[in-house]
Amino acid sequence: MMVELEQAVRLLLEERVVALPTETVYGLGGLATSKAAIAKIYAAKGRPQDNPLICHFLNAAHIQPYVSIVPGYWSSLVHAFSPGPVSYRLPLPEGSPLQPAVASQSTVACRIPDQPLCLEVIRQVGVPIAAPSANTSGKVSPTSAPMVEQDLGSEIAGVLDGGPCIYGLESTILDCCQEDNITILRPGAIGPDEITEVLAQQGFRKITVNYAKNSQRSVVPGNKYRHYAPDTQLCAVKDLTEIPKGLHAVVLMSQEQATARSWPTSLQPVILGSRHDLPHVAQHLYRHIKSVDEHDNTTAYYLIEDWGNSSLGRAIGNRLRRASQEKRRE
Ligand code: TXA
Ligand code: MG
Repeated sequence: MMVELEQAVRLLLEERVVALPTETVYGLGGLATSKAAIAKIYAAKGRPQDNPLICHFLNAAHIQPYVSIVPGYWSSLVHAFSPGPVSYRLPLPEGSPLQPAVASQSTVACRIPDQPLCLEVIRQVGVPIAAPSANTSGKVSPTSAPMVEQDLGSEIAGVLDGGPCIYGLESTILDCCQEDNITILRPGAIGPDEITEVLAQQGFRKITVNYAKNSQRSVVPGNKYRHYAPDTQLCAVKDLTEIPKGLHAVVLMSQEQATARSWPTSLQPVILGSRHDLPHVAQHLYRHIKSVDEHDNTTAYYLIEDWGNSSLGRAIGNRLRRASQEKRRE
């Protein structure tokens, strides 16, 4: 059910769950301090209980009282990137009122969304809003209100329509629990180059910024679960010859891959966009991934692309890798 702002606020205060627009993807919001609301988020998504939720705040001053320490560089990052597509993992004090949202972690991932309707909801509710992406656990994240309605409409109290999401990919998650280094736990639109530049401008030249190594993956409990998968099996292939001859299938690929070759008529390309316009690719990525379910095929393919080493290129590659499985070689 689509709801207006006023109704969304009322439902949230009644400890119910409402899908909210953000600039990244739609979130399934509930009061971060309410056990009842948080239980409803986990139930609606079918989310594993050990997977913590990102909490959404109005501004930096709203975050400060909820975390035990912030590193020296933190306010420079917040000033540069928030409101925006970045979540900051910070230490949580014992006995925190946010405990229902963090699944027994001693940290909380904090984000200030850059979406006026969402910020207005947070302002009127007056309490941080916990919000995972508003999809059934493991499935594609929704980037429009109809996408949420189609997946979770019957499970939740309402959807607040803020139009299509501008970024289309979830926030970059930064581990800000150390004074001298920052680890990128989930790639997103903001990456090491953007962060290092801000740190250098502010005189924080000794702080290192790195993507998480494989050994650090367990810091994000959600990493051990499958993500972004359409209902149809999506297989990643390096070359079209890996697809059985004559099989009718849809193939996700870049504009460049599509124009570089001739097509067997049995294969239908879904163009993700150009390698040279990554914001466009990101914005439409989940809609394109989800679109493979509109066909009758049992298997869809992703023709592996090098999206480059920019923050967004890495984030797009990361989501496509996780959405698809390497073709099984029988
Ligand atoms: O852009 C976004 O971040 C969206 C919008 C709605 O804000 N939210 C989002 O939430 O993507 P979700 O739950 O789909 O993904 C959050 C990821 C999960 O993999 C979870 O394990 C991790 O963040 N996470 C949350 N809190 C954490 C914490 N305290 N420490 C480590 N990882 C955390
Ligand atoms: Mg998610």
